[in-house]
Order: sequence, then structure tokens, then C-alpha cells
Amino acid sequence: MQITLDAHLARVYGAKSPQELAEAYDLWAESYDRDMLEDLGWGGPEAAATVLAAHAATDAPVLDVGAGTGLAGESLRKHGFAQIFAADLSERMVALARARGVYAAVHHVSPGALPFGDGEFGSVVAVGVLTQGHAGPESLAEWVRITRPGGHIAFTLRPDLHEQLGYRHAAAVLEIEKKWSLLQETEDQPGFRRLQSKPYRVWVYRVN
Ligand SMILES: C[S@@+](CC[C@H](N)C(=O)[O-])C[C@H]1O[C@@H](n2cnc3c(N)ncnc32)[C@H](O)[C@@H]1O
Repeated sequence: MQITLDAHLARVYGAKSPQELAEAYDLWAESYDRDMLEDLGWGGPEAAATVLAAHAATDAPVLDVGAGTGLAGESLRKHGFAQIFAADLSERMVALARARGVYAAVHHVSPGALPFGDGEFGSVVAVGVLTQGHAGPESLAEWVRITRPGGHIAFTLRPDLHEQLGYRHAAAVLEIEKKWSLLQETEDQPGFRRLQSKPYRVWVYRVN
């Protein structure tokens, strides 16, 4: 059975549990790159890697969380990052990310606590992961935990969802607690072009 792109989008953004989300991405994995790049014109991976590379050391390990098939890993490598790790909820996405050959290791993870030590990474990048039905605002504190002091966290996020889904509040709490400081918030970047969806921005924080 051929599933349309619109049906994949409805499934992933309407998922009611992490299990439903992982299953939705398992089903989408094979056609994900074609759909996202050719049909939707998704520029998030390249935008996040470009902005992160302007701030972060490229010789420290970087974790691509919610890596999907590895589009951001590919961009990170192009920008000179040498030790790139990945984590994702979906087994099929993990398999495709491994096959891409740009990651030192690709971890199949559950939502919540990540299987990494405190300060293990020089940077964490998350592209298309902070959004409805995906990783919630509590993820930010977990990414801070696994990033070393002086390291960086970069993520894409729609400004409307930043406000509505509690990410702005969670980020502000971390700033008040002096866990991190905002380095850059980009201008609006075009979202899924064919659907004329709302724009996203890239945020970069330095971990204290
Ligand atoms: C829209 S895709 C983005 C994939 C890739 N970063 C890109 O830009 O092409 C979102 C990915 O995040 C993963 N994901 C969602 N929530 C997650 C979580 N809490 N932890 C790890 N991965 C998650 C999904 O399985 C999916 O592969």
C-alpha cells in the first residue's frame, strides 16, 4: 500500500504516544529523504549545521538527536564536524542513518533520559524534533545535562510553537538558572515550501 506524503505528515504530527510516533517514522523512513528534500524543500539540517558551525568547535563530539535518516549528520560533516553521533526513536530511521555512513555511532533511544553521561558532548543539535507530538520542552534540560560546559546546543523550532508548546518557558527557566545562555536566534527560515507552512528559526545556546 502506497502511503501519501500528506498521510505521513498527518501521522507524525498527530501521534499520541512515543510508540505511535516511532511507528509513524518507521513507515515513512524509505521515502522520507525524497519527500522532505524534493517535495517539501526541507532546509533545516543545512541551516542548523551552518549556524552551529559558526559557534562550536568542530573537533568535539556532536550528538544529532532525532537524527532521522541522517540529513543533519551529512551537513555537519560538510561543515567540518569530525565526531558525529546520532540518536533516534525509530528503528527504521536508525537503520538508514547507520547506512549513511557519516556517524561514529547511531543509538536507538527512548524518549526521556538519554543513555549518555553528563557533559559527554561538545554540541547537541536537534532538527525538526521540537514540534508537536515529538520531543517536549523537558528535552531541553536533558540536552543541557549531556553537553559539556562551554559547549553548544542548536535546534530548529517554529516561533509559534516555541511560545504555544512551552519551549520558550523551559528555555527561559534554564537561562534564569544560569544553565545556558542564548547566543543566536536566526531570522525566520522558510518551512515546508510546497505546503507554505509556517517558518522556523534556529536557536543556539552556550551551556554554562
Ligand atoms: C522530522 S524528523 C527530523 C529528522 C532529521 N533531524 C531531519 O531534519 O531530517 C524527526 C525525528 O525525530 C525523532 N524523534 C522524535 N522525538 C524524539 C525523541 N524524543 N528522542 C529522539 N528522537 C526523536 C523521530 O523518530 C524522527 O526521526
